[in-house]
Amino acid sequence: MNAPSTIHKASVQFSPGEARIRVQNLGKRYGTLEVFRDVTFDVGAREIVAVVGPSGCGKTTLLRCIDGLISVDNGEIWVDHTRVTGPTPGMAMVFQHFGLFPWKTVADNVAYGLRMAGTPKAEIAKRVPDFIKLVGLAGFEKAYPYQMSGGMQQRCGLARALAVEPNVLLMDEPFAAVDAQTREILQFELLRIWQQRPTAMIFVTHSIEEAVLLGHRVVVLKGRPSSIYETIAIDLPGQRTRETLREPRFAELRERVWSTLMSEARAAEFVLENQN
Ligand SMILES: Nc1ncnc2c1ncn2[C@@H]1O[C@H](COP(=O)(O)OP(=O)(O)O)[C@@H](O)[C@H]1O
Ligand SMILES: [Mg+2]
Repeated sequence: MNAPSTIHKASVQFSPGEARIRVQNLGKRYGTLEVFRDVTFDVGAREIVAVVGPSGCGKTTLLRCIDGLISVDNGEIWVDHTRVTGPTPGMAMVFQHFGLFPWKTVADNVAYGLRMAGTPKAEIAKRVPDFIKLVGLAGFEKAYPYQMSGGMQQRCGLARALAVEPNVLLMDEPFAAVDAQTREILQFELLRIWQQRPTAMIFVTHSIEEAVLLGHRVVVLKGRPSSIYETIAIDLPGQRTRETLREPRFAELRERVWSTLMSEARAAEFVLENQN
């Protein structure tokens, strides 16, 4: 299985690897509400695909389908040649509102996924401090979520996801609830961590800048019933740093994603007007 050719043309700096996630003709309804239809895309084993689209178009639903938490009505999801039909080992999700257990300490929250996976206690005790350190929370092992800032809580959420050493990371607007400065710090922390251990990642965001900074491709979804409006290859050369934010090519790509989203919004308005 090859990743789409646009990646090969667009970037010589990274290799997306073989497709790890394959989403084929996916359709999902909640009762009479058709959320999306015919959603088809791949994510390489070492690729970050950012997903943007209007609020309510089904981005969270899409991630939950891929994670096997909810069923699909049409189409198929494959991860590493195995069809997803329920919760699947090797996948981890990071939520917008952190999803931490308020009654558990940082260390116990980070250990949670490992406990669920049946990892032996000694192995958990060895692994947890490494992941706490990796996300910059060393010294806060015994803190409870309420004692930490939003940014620190999301570091904890990230450590919990990373601790199970997933092959697939699903990120649902993970930095939307933190302040702008913390958000920028966390974006580069995530890139640093991803460089150390690249995975297939789907990163849902409503920030165009964040999508272009983090994604190797940006998938633009359209309004309901949603499907893929356009996929934009982010051909930024080299490793992404704070300098990247000032590059003319970064500004061009941000503009490109913005105008794609705007043309989708205009098209949606046009359909509504014609219906009235
Ligand atoms: N469990 C559910 N039951 C019924 N409708 C739902 C459920 N979850 C989400 N929806 C609806 O499906 C649509 C897509 O929701 P969601 O996936 O959360 O969108 P997004 O993450 O893009 O904002 C919305 O209209 C939402 O109200
Ligand atoms: Mg959502």
